[in-house]
Amino acid sequence: MTRHWARPRQNRICPSILSADFARLGDEIALVARAGADFLHVDVMDGQFVPNISFGAILVRAMRRLTSLPLDVHLMVVEPLRFLEEFAKAGADHLIVHLETVEDPVRALREIRARGLRAGLAIKPGTPLTGYLPALAGCDLALVMTVEPGRGGQPFLEGSPKRIAAVREAIDRESLDCLLGVDGGISPETARIAARAGADTFIAGNSIFCAPDPAEALHAIRRSVEPA
Ligand code: DX5
Ligand code: ZN
Repeated sequence: MTRHWARPRQNRICPSILSADFARLGDEIALVARAGADFLHVDVMDGQFVPNISFGAILVRAMRRLTSLPLDVHLMVVEPLRFLEEFAKAGADHLIVHLETVEDPVRALREIRARGLRAGLAIKPGTPLTGYLPALAGCDLALVMTVEPGRGGQPFLEGSPKRIAAVREAIDRESLDCLLGVDGGISPETARIAARAGADTFIAGNSIFCAPDPAEALHAIRRSVEPA
């Protein structure tokens, strides 16, 4: 693993394939890869932690054969530790678990890193940050949900910037080598707001894959978060 993965601050744009056209998944991935996507975000939903079911490790395995981009797998599932091995074997590069689904977040992150993967910790919009911030010391990617997890195409919640800023403060105070991602309702406008609050990693589904020109939509998000 590289030292300084998060520093100096570099913005990452990560299309979420939840909003892609699955009948043309290979083409959709190639398109955003050519447009300069940094990671591909893969939303795994179990119908329990969130109301919907999406897909599992079998899709990650197929995507692994389609791209060399890092696969950023967001586990919106109960008892995520049961599935770490399966997703690691399928070719995930980053595994993100939810604070709300693990008894001991520090141990969960350690179990992910023990498999040679980057470890992420996500938090829902309504969960207090008190149990979250202390766990970031063992984390490669802090993921602040900016919508209620469970589906794409929802509006960015207005309470998000304050939470992003609190996480940024914790990361900087401890000089942690941790990315700060935002997920949900990210467009060029909301990405700029999130970047000002301290985010450096922008996950976007709807605003990229449902745009008439997904490559241009990705570039527009990148431009909006670059310093003027
Ligand atoms: C929501 C997922 C997101 C989703 C974002 O539960 O975690 O990754 O794909 O989609 P948009 O960008 O459409 O809000
Ligand atoms: Zn996600």
